[in-house]
Amino acid sequence: MKNIIVTGGAGFIGSNFVHYVVNNHPDINITVLDKLTYAGNKENLVGLPADRVELVVGDITDAELVDHLVKEADAVVHYAAESHNDNSLKDPFPFVQTNIIGTYTLIEACRKYGVRYHHVSTDEVYGDLPLREDLPGKGDGPGEKFTSETPYNPSSPYSSTKAGSDLLVKAWVRSFGLEATISNCSNNYGPYQHIEKFIPRQITNILSDIRPKLYGDGKNVRDWIHTNDHSSAVWAILTKGQIGETYLIGADGEENNKHVLELILELMDQPKDAYDHVQDRAGHDLRYAIDSTRLREELGWTPQFTNFKDGLADTIQWYAENKEWWTAQKEAVEANYAKNNQ
Ligand code: NAD
Ligand code: DAU
Repeated sequence: MKNIIVTGGAGFIGSNFVHYVVNNHPDINITVLDKLTYAGNKENLVGLPADRVELVVGDITDAELVDHLVKEADAVVHYAAESHNDNSLKDPFPFVQTNIIGTYTLIEACRKYGVRYHHVSTDEVYGDLPLREDLPGKGDGPGEKFTSETPYNPSSPYSSTKAGSDLLVKAWVRSFGLEATISNCSNNYGPYQHIEKFIPRQITNILSDIRPKLYGDGKNVRDWIHTNDHSSAVWAILTKGQIGETYLIGADGEENNKHVLELILELMDQPKDAYDHVQDRAGHDLRYAIDSTRLREELGWTPQFTNFKDGLADTIQWYAENKEWWTAQKEAVEANYAKNNQ
């Protein structure tokens, strides 16, 4: 494997993956295929060597462009998506178009040219788990977790289009012999995450003298993983994973939203209660939790960034030091949330 296409490589997780591959695998050349939607940013790729990373600005639903690029590639790692649940509740159409038709376009081209395909997906395809009231804040004891055997039960337009795209890939593997793997990862955090998302929204609120906003009672649990650990897991699956298999990626990072916000406030020297409770998300999933045993045992992967508080401190520092990366968008993002009392 020498030439890989990374779709969505100018977005949050895709760009972190491009940096990871450039830094750790000197023989690999990358073509980033990215539409540069509101969530994509060329700046995320600044500083990468031009002889190893090429940005093609284009749409994954453009079959002619995709065919032309995939023909020359050894593998496709597919990150591009409409990724934000709140946006999907306001306007689902781009989610259907990019997440389903876009995936269809890519796997058709990979099938045609026999190109290895890795599909990046989310734990949200499994729906949610009951809250664990016994462990406020933390949830890392025994209890039900998602595995690759958990039935699909998505809640939102976003997660249902991701589920639909996963099912297309599974069908293409079985019916057409597509050489594909799938990964379903939990909530990522780290640098370059769009400020519409929970953690960067709260950090940039505080940096902008705006009170942080917590949906509902804040008891909803997410299973946080540093985006660098997601990158190393995807690389392990791409290079060592079994064709046709699904791998769940998670780092045992369960925290409820209220506790995450309190940690951010503490790390930014703010009073513990300096935030507002706002309108809850419609259909808000209660809890996600990943069982990543298969990935760890079969592929020998282990997460490296497991101290969540340290990871949050680094992330806060990144947003504080890179204000020019996000300030231009802040007003519009908050105005959009305000329309929904969020
Ligand atoms: P993001 O919104 O930050 O980035 C998405 C990227 O895709 C952007 O660069 C955007 O320009 C590009 N894009 C969107 N539509 C496109 C199109 N039609 N053609 C080409 N490019 C297009 O998203 P993210 O948070 O980095 O998520 C990346 C992937 O990882 C998604 O598939 C998402 O479902 C999955 N995922 C995300 C998380 C998370 O916590 N954020 C967790 C698990 C899985
Ligand atoms: O689980 C993986 C998923 O994680 C990915 O598939 C998605 O692409 C990604 O966006 C993320 O989805 P969430 O909906 O969990 O992430 P978000 O950052 O939007 O919200 C995290 C939690 O915080 C969620 O319970 C809603 C809550 N929240 C969010 C925002 C934006 C708040 O309480 N306040 C907020 O302002």
